[in-house]
Amino acid sequence: MYSADAFDLLSTTVLLLNSAGEVVEANAAAEVMFGRSRRNLLGQPAAFLFDRDKALAHSIQQACRGEVADCRQFARVRRGVETVEVAVTSVALSQPLWSALIEIKDLEQRVLVDRSSRLVDEIDTQHELLRNLAHEVKNPLGGLRGAAQLLESELPDPALREYTSVIISEADRLQALVDRLAAPQRMPVQWQAVNIHEICERVCALVRAEFREVALLRDYDASMPEFRADPARVMQALLNIVRNAAQVMTGFHPTQSPHITIKTRIARQVLLRHKQHRLAAVVTVIDNGPGVPEILKERIFHPLVTGRDGGTGLGLSLAQDFIQQHGGVIEFESQPGHTEFRLQLPMEPF
Ligand SMILES: Nc1ncnc2c1ncn2[C@@H]1O[C@H](COP(=O)(O)OP(=O)(O)OP(=O)(O)O)[C@@H](O)[C@H]1O
Ligand SMILES: [Mg+2]
Repeated sequence: MYSADAFDLLSTTVLLLNSAGEVVEANAAAEVMFGRSRRNLLGQPAAFLFDRDKALAHSIQQACRGEVADCRQFARVRRGVETVEVAVTSVALSQPLWSALIEIKDLEQRVLVDRSSRLVDEIDTQHELLRNLAHEVKNPLGGLRGAAQLLESELPDPALREYTSVIISEADRLQALVDRLAAPQRMPVQWQAVNIHEICERVCALVRAEFREVALLRDYDASMPEFRADPARVMQALLNIVRNAAQVMTGFHPTQSPHITIKTRIARQVLLRHKQHRLAAVVTVIDNGPGVPEILKERIFHPLVTGRDGGTGLGLSLAQDFIQQHGGVIEFESQPGHTEFRLQLPMEPF
């Protein structure tokens, strides 16, 4: 016998079929893959779940009859309006209840997971380097500023103070940069019960006050329970993302008026940073601005990468850090007129 719970923990989709090729068991990942409830899947001929594909239908039939031990092929699943490329393995079981097992892997998802885990490793290394650099810069910077202040008070000609004030203000600017670089590690993570919608509302209020011309829309899942997180970090991460969207839309004139939507949803059986989570909170920030410049797309989460005059390029890198400290991840998709930043947080009960 199998354990139903373990079966549901798998991130790959598994269907068990009877001798007629109909679904008799489906795990939780199958519900997500086909966008249907388990009850709706049961009794369906498995071949009908894929985009019309004779070769696949044939190998499912063969597996159910025990004619081939195992067969792998590529296929497509239709989910609403989108089509998902998958790899399907059909295995003959010859058991009294189940004649065959089908395992389905989402190929796009795999690429996404590979890419985001590579990104996480790369960014970890970069941050380590930058934090060390920030640490080295901090002390001489304090000395430099102090010396400029002393010099200022000793200067015989007040007109020369223009130069010392440049030194002082630039030292302050560098100090602020260095502080932001060291920020993720500075405070210990403060775990507590978090209501994600309260955080979204506070972010909306702050952004609304700063960017009056951008409309902020909300699409909340009211059934979202509280979960364990550090509210200050989650709020800062979300604020950085929403502010970016508002900033790129200021001065940009799309055909539609500029708007940002903040959407919350619960996702089931998600793989985040190499760990499977039963539930995750997904906060999506969607804007109808010009989109992320192509040249920045690969590096957008790296520190000091900016496409904005006066930007420090730390907003997204800090946001990613804060969410990673929760075991979560931020991903994005962007094209002109539609940009989505997806913030995914494991929902740990507390
Ligand atoms: N929603 C978006 N649409 C288009 N481009 C974006 C969007 N969000 C971010 N970007 C691009 O990504 C760049 C990096 O963003 P990030 O927040 O890391 O740095 P910044 O906004 O430039 O500076 P900082 O946040 O440190 O003040 C931005 O400069 C902008 O070019
Ligand atoms: Mg920013």
